[in-house]
Amino acid sequence: MNQSSPWAIVYVTIVLDRTSGETFARDRDLADELGAILAGHPAVGGVETLAPAEYSVSLLVYTDPSAAGVVEQRASELAEALGLRAATRPEVRTDDDWRDTWKQFYRPIILGEGDLLLRPSWIPRADDHPIREIVLDPGRAFGTGLHETTRLCLDAIVARARRGVDPKAVLDLGCGSGILALAAARMFPTATVVALDDDPEATATTLENATANGLAGRLTVVTADLGDPMAERVHPPGGYDLVLANIRAETLIPRARSLRECMAPGAELVLSGVLADELEAVELAFREASFIPAGVSWPRRLNEWVALDLRRSPP
Ligand SMILES: C[S@@+](CC[C@H](N)C(=O)[O-])C[C@H]1O[C@@H](n2cnc3c(N)ncnc32)[C@H](O)[C@@H]1O
Repeated sequence: MNQSSPWAIVYVTIVLDRTSGETFARDRDLADELGAILAGHPAVGGVETLAPAEYSVSLLVYTDPSAAGVVEQRASELAEALGLRAATRPEVRTDDDWRDTWKQFYRPIILGEGDLLLRPSWIPRADDHPIREIVLDPGRAFGTGLHETTRLCLDAIVARARRGVDPKAVLDLGCGSGILALAAARMFPTATVVALDDDPEATATTLENATANGLAGRLTVVTADLGDPMAERVHPPGGYDLVLANIRAETLIPRARSLRECMAPGAELVLSGVLADELEAVELAFREASFIPAGVSWPRRLNEWVALDLRRSPP
């Protein structure tokens, strides 16, 4: 779509069910899912999630004015099918603010102290941008770098690279857009990286982004869950020495033992996607699977989300 033409935004405001941490987290996930599905609509140029308010999430769905009605209807139907309480509102934008609005959401992100740049594919590099970069097309699967749970994992990668940690085999469980797998490949130049996701749309996006970054040769991308034979076939014989898993707590907890089994003794595990009130349950499940806390500040927290840095204890 041409940025100088009029654009339309369909605002989709989702009211989160705060009856419990579980219903809140479920609605947050479903809101992300709704955004990802809408991003795949042929008339949609991009979807952004506004910094969520305490009770709601707003999706800004960018489209063409002539398609705004169709996109709005699709958003309503999908929200209903997902069981979300959502209100929709289209708005045609012809004002000069438009480009600034777009840029505000998709601005490049610099991680660490200039260690890594995350750059949307359509924004050119600036002279003072860090040399190491990952270029992402944020339009499709989850993982633009703007979500707290992604950011907690990205910070974990950069912090390890700064400390000289040099993993040889890294797993990104639930790779979405591939953002973590790609950041790991860039920051750990000798590592081989496996990216797993059970959603074929996510693995397709990861492969596209890997190719765009010249990193396809460093990544093994598999559409599978952790325990699937397809995934077991690509696990390194000695086990992973770093695993990044940004997935919801209810998915992480039952996979604690499988994660242990595919990791080398002493390997590190970063769990994100955990709400503060789920911390205790996640910590218990992983302690029972012989993981111990690692890192100086534990757990790390961004808004309502926490990340657990864990280490697999020796056998
Ligand atoms: C919150 S997104 C994380 C995406 C990206 N890694 C990031 O940090 O931004 C979680 C991803 O996990 C995937 N996922 C959820 N359950 C899974 C499972 N059981 N096995 C594999 N992938 C799963 C989803 O399809 C989704 O792409």
